[in-house]
Amino acid sequence: MQPIILSTWSFGRVANAAGWPVLESNGTGIDAVEAACCAVELDLKVNSVGVGGVPDRSGRVSLDSCVMLSPSRCGGVAFVRRFAHPVSIARRVMEDTQHVLLVGDGADDFAESQGFTPTDLLTESAEQRWRDMMSGQRSIEMTANREERTSEGDEPRHDSPHDTVGVLALDAAGTLAGACSTSGWPCKLPGRVGDSPIIGHGLYVDPNVGAAVATGHGELVMGTCSTFLAVELMRRGASPLDALTDALQRIADSYDLSDDAQVGMITLRPTGQWACAALRAGYRTAVRDAEQDDLVEPQRVILT
Ligand code: GLY
Repeated sequence: MQPIILSTWSFGRVANAAGWPVLESNGTGIDAVEAACCAVELDLKVNSVGVGGVPDRSGRVSLDSCVMLSPSRCGGVAFVRRFAHPVSIARRVMEDTQHVLLVGDGADDFAESQGFTPTDLLTESAEQRWRDMMSGQRSIEMTANREERTSEGDEPRHDSPHDTVGVLALDAAGTLAGACSTSGWPCKLPGRVGDSPIIGHGLYVDPNVGAAVATGHGELVMGTCSTFLAVELMRRGASPLDALTDALQRIADSYDLSDDAQVGMITLRPTGQWACAALRAGYRTAVRDAEQDDLVEPQRVILT
């Protein structure tokens, strides 16, 4: 099997740079996706994942993540406020507990009991961004994951680094793995949790069928169980790209979408076949295997 790693957005190249060496040296997919997410969680230039994520309206950062190998091997954490690597805590939930999801103080206490090192998640630049948003100098609406307008009349920057890092990998043994990690919607209501820590919403992996990961406006993904839907469509014979097209079309059909609503998705099959698509142009996927290290446009865009 030829290994491959696929990650969301332009910061996916940072993720792939950390995950690919694991796959290249015959490591496991789960090690690769964890390493990939950890790299973005520590990248201070990324203000929507890990340390440096923009806080909620109360000024506090909270992180969400999940990992998945199969329906019986998955784990997630939500509303983590004291640790930099929710993806690693999610993996520990999967491997060392009987549960799938831990949230809030319970997730933080679990991380502490497992020996994770507490970290201050709030950076000066994230705090400044929060101040600008809260004072109205920067729009709060939807700036997490779609396009960013810094002032009236600005051209939207469709490819600004934002939102969830979602990673899918196929290792040399032919095993699929997935992970995703985010600080969620900037200036979200305190307590808000999006799609990224929830199995079947931000991420779904069936080892015999395929994997799907989503990024963007989590509420849209949650209302349509987008990644579960994409994998189920592949189970019933859809190609990876047709599965994504139908899952994204379901979102378009189900919501009265705002102009800047965005969801990007990736699918990967155990054969190595993969696809990426988005509601709107602007989303990109980072692809790395033995032959390429590229950032590619969506193969299908639903709203043109
Ligand atoms: N997709 C990440 C979130 O909405 O929280």
